[in-house]
Amino acid sequence: MIDPLITFQKWHADAARHGVQEPGAMALATVNPEGFPEVRMVLLKHADEHGFVFYTNLDSPKAVALRAHPRAELCFYWNPPGRQVRVSGLVKAVTDDEADSYFDSRPYLSRIGAWASKQSKPLRGSELERAVAATMLRHPRGRVPRPPHWSGFRVVPDRIELWSEKPFRMHDRELFTRTAPDAPWSHVMLQP
Ligand SMILES: Cc1cc2nc3c(=O)[nH]c(=O)nc-3n(C[C@H](O)[C@H](O)[C@H](O)COP(=O)(O)O)c2cc1C
Repeated sequence: MIDPLITFQKWHADAARHGVQEPGAMALATVNPEGFPEVRMVLLKHADEHGFVFYTNLDSPKAVALRAHPRAELCFYWNPPGRQVRVSGLVKAVTDDEADSYFDSRPYLSRIGAWASKQSKPLRGSELERAVAATMLRHPRGRVPRPPHWSGFRVVPDRIELWSEKPFRMHDRELFTRTAPDAPWSHVMLQP
């Protein structure tokens, strides 16, 4: 049985080889507390057998949605070579150690920005510039601690669809499902 996570890694690397600018860019679909769908792009920072990890502001609408409904779907599209991957599963918070280690690897100004930006809140005048300047004064150089409102989520897949473009819309679609993270994948082909 083909492991869809291994195919994902191969396709992700193929996309980079084909010159796709941000092969880790993925649409993240969530359901907000009112039951409405919401979708936005985020960047994949890590993918392995445990799941697909991205980082964000924990006070943002996406984080609020994920706390209300801890399930999400991700969608990647790479062209060339004309491939789509959909990943669906339960969402878990990453550990503090994992978040600290990724946060510490970010450029200084990105770490400052994580403190300064109240993501998705209305922006009034020059308040962001002032918040950036104040944060830089507080952390002039060296270590910027990870803000308590900034961390990551891991989508633990139980459903992965691999879509590959074929002539005359006779695309290949392979759907993999599993009942638990340690259960084997089942596999079915879908009509295009
Ligand atoms: C290519 C791309 C990558 C992005 N990556 C991230 C990301 O990794 N984390 C993040 O919080 N926002 C990212 N954003 C911004 C989000 O799309 C979104 O504007 C922001 O997170 C607010 O979303 P929310 O209001 O639904 O929480 C990215 C935007 C683009 C276009």
